[in-house]
Formats: sequence, structure tokens, C-alpha cells
Amino acid sequence: MVSNVAPVLAELEAEDFHLLSGIEQGMRFSEWVDREELPEYSRLTAEDVDYRLDRCEDRELIERKTIQYEGFRLTFEGYDALALHTFAERDTIEEVGSSLGVGKESDVYEVRSYKPLALKYHREGYTNFREVMREREYTADRDHVSWLYTARKAAEREYAVLEALYPGVRVPRPVDHNRHAIVMERMDGVELSQTKLESQQVRPVLDLILQEVQNAYEAGYVHADMSEYNVFVAEDGVTVFDWPQAVETEHENARELLGRDVENVLGYFQRKYPNAVEDVDKTAVATAIADGHFESIDAI
Ligand SMILES: Nc1ncnc2c1ncn2[C@@H]1O[C@H](COP(=O)(O)OP(=O)(O)O)[C@@H](O)[C@H]1O
Ligand SMILES: [Mg+2]
Repeated sequence: MVSNVAPVLAELEAEDFHLLSGIEQGMRFSEWVDREELPEYSRLTAEDVDYRLDRCEDRELIERKTIQYEGFRLTFEGYDALALHTFAERDTIEEVGSSLGVGKESDVYEVRSYKPLALKYHREGYTNFREVMREREYTADRDHVSWLYTARKAAEREYAVLEALYPGVRVPRPVDHNRHAIVMERMDGVELSQTKLESQQVRPVLDLILQEVQNAYEAGYVHADMSEYNVFVAEDGVTVFDWPQAVETEHENARELLGRDVENVLGYFQRKYPNAVEDVDKTAVATAIADGHFESIDAI
């Protein structure tokens, strides 16, 4: 569980951020950054580095470990602090509010600027990374693939897909991104998994979701992680979110992944609303979507 770093931000000084970004730079080359290298990476005097290391360690933004040398690395809180600081400097964010959700591989917070937005910190690679590193404890640092890198790549990917899809597909409007974090429009509505639809709403909502799957396909993407947890339902329609693993339609597995997405959506509706959605030919639905002909379940 990574804690909300926003309250700590106000206590930090410009030089603390220099230290954090110095450690970030060093982590491109080794998991634990040698203390000796920090004055150069962070452009601070050795004395200032000592002082800032204690401040940042007290706030759990960094961790210390003595191997052959005394090394430091960012915690996820430290990486969050760097991204949040950047968003604040760019005036993307004025205030961080409460948690909107904890996903499989993310933490999402409500944030405010001139309107309510959502801040998603990617956490990909975190748990896996720790397991991998345990096995690799004694191997050379050049094998090191940092979780910073994995999480940053996922955020970049998700942001690029949102930019490609918005507004033709109903996805959250992308606002800004930095490091492993993206800022987007805060969605109204409720996760599909938590919605109890009236019987006359079931098919129309299912149709809307599949139409968005088709819109995304026409725009060149397959979501590849479609489920009741990645769709919001509101009065004015549906929104499909959580896109870091999306693949281009030219990808060799795209058609197969589309089939799986369609199956996930239909399977969920069939389990939850067996009377409203009887036997639907899933393959026919996926084919209609790939051909751009899908209009409604009734027409299949
Ligand atoms: N733009 C948003 N507006 C409101 N809530 C959001 C937004 N994005 C994500 N959430 C909430 O955060 C949760 C996790 O986000 P998600 O993108 O699905 O990440 P994960 O990859 O971890 O599943 C979602 O289930 C949802 O409840
Ligand atoms: Mg999700």
C-alpha cells in the first residue's frame, strides 16, 4: 500500500526535489544509488545532500541500504512526489483530494484545478520487480530494470492511447502526464460492476459498451483488458477507461484480443442478467465489430 504523498509536499523545499530527482537519475543505472554520486546527480553540496537525505528518509520518500556502499533509492512515494511537484509547477493540479480507487496496478486520486480531475499513479512492475530483484540480489546492476521504467512506460502508453482515442471514443479526456502519472478528466457515474441495471436498460447499456469497443477498433485500438471494472456507467452514457495495455489493430493478436474483450463483456452481462441477454453469438458480435457493422445485439 503506497500512501498519499500530497500532504508531505508542502513540507518539501526546492533542494529536496533536486535530491529526489538526483536519485531518480542514478536509478537509471543501478537500483541503489551510491551516496558518493549524489552531489553530482543532484547538484547539491555534500553537506546539503546529507541534510536532504535525512529529511527525505524521514518522510519515507527514499530508502537506504548499505551493501558494499551506502545506497539510496526512491520509494513509490518519492516518485509520486516528483510527479506531483511537476503537475503543481505546471498548474495542472491545485489540490489533491481523496482516493477514487485502488486498481490492480494503480492508485487514483481526485484532484482539482479549475474542475475536478483524476490523477492516476501507475504501479506496474512494483510487485514483480521486487520478486525479480530478490532473485537477482547478487547479479550485476546492468541487468537492472527499474520499476520506475515499467510504471513510466505504462503511463506513457495509456496517455498516448487516450490522446489518440479522445473524443471519438468515450474515454476520460487526457489532461497531462509526467513520469508514471497521468491526469485526466474525472468521470461521473459508477463502475459497471457496481451498477444494478433495470431490465429495460440492460441491452441498451450493453449496446453502448460494444459500440465503444467498435469505435476504438475503428480508431485503431483494442482495449485488451475489457471488463466490468473498466467501464463507468452514467446518465449520459458509458466511459471506457484503463488503457495502458491496449494494442494496435495491426498487431498480430489484435483480432484474438478483440474476441476476448467481447467475450468478457458479454459473459459478464450473461451472468448478471441471464433473462435479458440469452444466447448471443459472441463470435458474430466480434466479427461485426471488426467489420465496423455492429449496431445492436438485436441486429446480430
Ligand atoms: N478518470 C477517472 N475518474 C474517476 N475514477 C477513476 C478514473 N480513473 C480511474 N478511476 C477509479 O480508479 C480505479 C482504478 O483505475 P484503473 O484505471 O482501472 O486502474 P487499474 O489498472 O489499476 O485497474 C477504477 O476502477 C476507478 O474506480
Ligand atoms: Mg482497472
